[in-house]
Amino acid sequence: MDDFSHKTAVITGAGSGFGLEFARLGASLGMNLVLADIQADALDAARAEMESAGVRVESRVVDVAEATQVEALAVAATRAFGDVHLLFNNAGVGTLGLLWENTLADWQWTLGVNLWGVIHGVHAFVPRMLAAAKASPDYRGHVVNTASMAGLMNPPLSGIYNVSKHAVVSLSETLFHDLSLVSEQVHCSVLCPYYVPTGINKSDRNRPDVIAGDAATHSQLVAKAQLDKAVSSGRVSAEAVARMTFDAIRDRQFYIASHPKALDGVRVRAEDITELRNPTDPFAARNGMRDALIQALRE
Ligand SMILES: NC(=O)c1ccc[n+]([C@@H]2O[C@H](COP(=O)([O-])OP(=O)(O)OC[C@H]3O[C@@H](n4cnc5c(N)ncnc54)[C@H](O)[C@@H]3O)[C@@H](O)[C@H]2O)c1
Repeated sequence: MDDFSHKTAVITGAGSGFGLEFARLGASLGMNLVLADIQADALDAARAEMESAGVRVESRVVDVAEATQVEALAVAATRAFGDVHLLFNNAGVGTLGLLWENTLADWQWTLGVNLWGVIHGVHAFVPRMLAAAKASPDYRGHVVNTASMAGLMNPPLSGIYNVSKHAVVSLSETLFHDLSLVSEQVHCSVLCPYYVPTGINKSDRNRPDVIAGDAATHSQLVAKAQLDKAVSSGRVSAEAVARMTFDAIRDRQFYIASHPKALDGVRVRAEDITELRNPTDPFAARNGMRDALIQALRE
């Protein structure tokens, strides 16, 4: 897909970070935008900004963990603009800490947004995209699922997040194969960012009320301090990641990595598996990180 003008993009998590940058880039290319987010104030601000850029915008408060809300988003998008050409299953949240300290509510919240959100997006939109492809040989569609480097490696202290993102990579790779069996007109990519300054380290702002009051454990505080540092010092911007993503859509490139050097860790993990070696520390390249974590956790 290389002609974006007057085509329609649906973006979940459009109020902040990567989602907001996808919207900005889409607007600069003259796309119709369907913006979805659970956070109404951020969504309203994104909508106002995109409208002032002169493009057509539809926005909806959507919890991607809820199938009916994502289906309603697909209905609203189609009613507003007709066929959807680009789908960004991007909304996501982070949960931290030693695995056994996470509550079942943490699992349900994180998998609900990060995994079920993507499942709901694929379920609601892909059949509509394939129907559009069947109806017109000129139609082109593309799905981008936001996973993470945590979908390709397993850093400690972020087990639920890792599980959710590995599942998104698996779903996306399978979607790639499945689509290739049935159509030349609909494609997909998986976005695997490393640490990039966005609101991801403040995901708790969107935790459902029922678990928002849970006190953080010691390991969660240690992991939060490490994440805050890594995210805030990230040198690749969300805007740059959005540009890479649109380039990948143009080039039909499946894997999108914001930090190609970080893929060394993926290579080592693959070798661990094929050589039946125990898992190498995913932070091995980050000098002193493991020792600092051991010390902080045992304080
Ligand atoms: N920033 C990073 O370092 C990084 C690295 C790897 C992957 N990611 C992934 O990138 C994606 C976007 O995150 P970001 O970094 O831009 O963070 P962000 O917090 O800036 O943006 C995430 C957006 O998702 C929205 N959201 C949260 N829960 C939602 C729900 N239930 N339904 C709908 N919207 C919801 C938030 O309100 C927010 O606007 C996520 O999937 C995240 O896991 C981020």
